[in-house]
Amino acid sequence: MTTTFELITRSPEETQALGRELGKLVQSGDLILLVGDLGAGKTCFTQGIAWGIGFEGYASSPSFVLVREYRGRLNLYHADLYRLDNVEEIADLGLDDYLDGPGILVVEWANKALDSFPPEHLRIHFEHMTENERRLRFEPHGPRYQRLVEQLMTGISTDCHSRESGNPLPSPLDSCLRRNDTEGKNWNFR
Ligand SMILES: Nc1ncnc2c1ncn2[C@@H]1O[C@H](COP(=O)(O)OP(=O)(O)OP(=O)(O)O)[C@@H](O)[C@H]1O
Ligand SMILES: [Mg+2]
Repeated sequence: MTTTFELITRSPEETQALGRELGKLVQSGDLILLVGDLGAGKTCFTQGIAWGIGFEGYASSPSFVLVREYRGRLNLYHADLYRLDNVEEIADLGLDDYLDGPGILVVEWANKALDSFPPEHLRIHFEHMTENERRLRFEPHGPRYQRLVEQLMTGISTDCHSRESGNPLPSPLDSCLRRNDTEGKNWNFR
């Protein structure tokens, strides 16, 4: 059984905050594939993951270097396939070799070569809705990622809507994010 989760973020800070919560939960060897159009929030989310593993700087788009590395309690390898179109070329890069070390791999534009990655991974679809709203759909592939997503969603909200895969009902979409506004910039989840 696979459960996917969808939620809407309403600002870049919310997307970063969500990434940060995921970054706190990831373990070495985790593979996270990001799918979505230009400006949909993939780099923004990755920035949050980097903060969640304890990296203190800014994560920029790796479009020109292919893979960037950020260090925290483990390494985050951040790849972007935007400029690559040839599936064999992408497969030849052997990006999943990064998973052998003490780190996680996050790949933007992973839809360009989904089949060249290990079948077990967390796939996250990003959709641009309005200027400041992005829909994120978390799709775990494999038991490790099912647990990871459940942990994430339990952590951020007790009333997050979930959907069994294959359920024909339209999934409810609601922001699961709670803002804990002390100074306008601190985002917390229940
Ligand atoms: N809710 C939101 N979540 C994320 N980004 C948002 C949101 N609302 C507005 N934005 C803006 O959308 C843009 C997202 O850019 P980002 O670089 O993260 O997208 P991307 O998916 O990585 O794009 P690309 O495919 O070009 O790499 C930023 O300018 C950000 O400020
Ligand atoms: Mg990007």
